Amino acid sequence: MSRLWGLFADRPRPRLLVWGIELVFTHLIGALLGLVFLPVALAVALWRGDAAAAPLIGYALGLTVAGYGVFVRRRWVVVRELEVPCAGLPSALDGLRVAHLSDLHIGSFDDERVGRRWVQRVNRLQPDLVAVTGDLVTSGTWSYTAVSRVLSELRATYGVFVILGNHDQWSGEQFREELAAHDVRVLNNTSESLRFERDGGEAHLNVAGLGDPYTQSADMERTLALRSAGFTLLLSHYPSWAEQALGKDVGLVLAGHTHGGQVGVPFLSGRFNVARAMGQRSRGLVELEGMQVHVSAGLGTSGLPIRLGVAPEIVVLRLRSLEAR
Ligand SMILES: [Fe+2]
Repeated sequence: MSRLWGLFADRPRPRLLVWGIELVFTHLIGALLGLVFLPVALAVALWRGDAAAAPLIGYALGLTVAGYGVFVRRRWVVVRELEVPCAGLPSALDGLRVAHLSDLHIGSFDDERVGRRWVQRVNRLQPDLVAVTGDLVTSGTWSYTAVSRVLSELRATYGVFVILGNHDQWSGEQFREELAAHDVRVLNNTSESLRFERDGGEAHLNVAGLGDPYTQSADMERTLALRSAGFTLLLSHYPSWAEQALGKDVGLVLAGHTHGGQVGVPFLSGRFNVARAMGQRSRGLVELEGMQVHVSAGLGTSGLPIRLGVAPEIVVLRLRSLEAR
């Protein structure tokens, strides 16, 4: 049992071993995809007059796609900027730029160096605020210190706010302590009120962070109870909890968890991806009864270290006040 557990535990591993594991995964996924590509491979093989070559052609096609997913797409981070029209956003907050990161899954596959590269990209964008919506690690407690170091390097004019996800709960209390020791602000069923002064106007932005529903420690009432009068930005790891914020004067919800499906049909992955197939809101911006919800496709991976059709992303949300227009 302990050996089986060891296979799934995301403990630190030598870089060479990780490459080896990635190659084995590439081969296995490539072989599976080879079956999907078999009709195409058969057509090519028949055209070449050598039907027996079909399995090899199929495997070569599958291996190419799997290699792209494991070594290229997974590492090829997309930075997007998105305008978010927010009802009830005070004009003093109009134009506020919030960098939304999620699902870093720092560990053996995406280690501290990779996390640091992500952080450098975020810092170059010079956001006003950074929100990190959970799943900072994949499993165990081994990477708590590493990811705390990584997040402590994030810079934003008005602060960096972090919540934990379901993968961070191996020892949630220990994790929160480690993050706090690195001066990383973690919201756990609580909110912080930020005061803004712009062009003679004054406004409050409440940044609220929900606890973890997976361990049944999420408490929406408590999270929203201590707010000042103003606009509320709610961080919730699970997109499905956005519905519970309806009617509670929340202007914008930021969520993650789904990884955008992590694997989807290329060019059509917004509609056809693993998360959508499982009935989840996979990624992007939606409006629910006047409340905006942004679901990040995340940066790292869990399960298999592959992304296909779904880029890892850093999204900068530029909040726009409907009233200021
Ligand atoms: Fe995740």
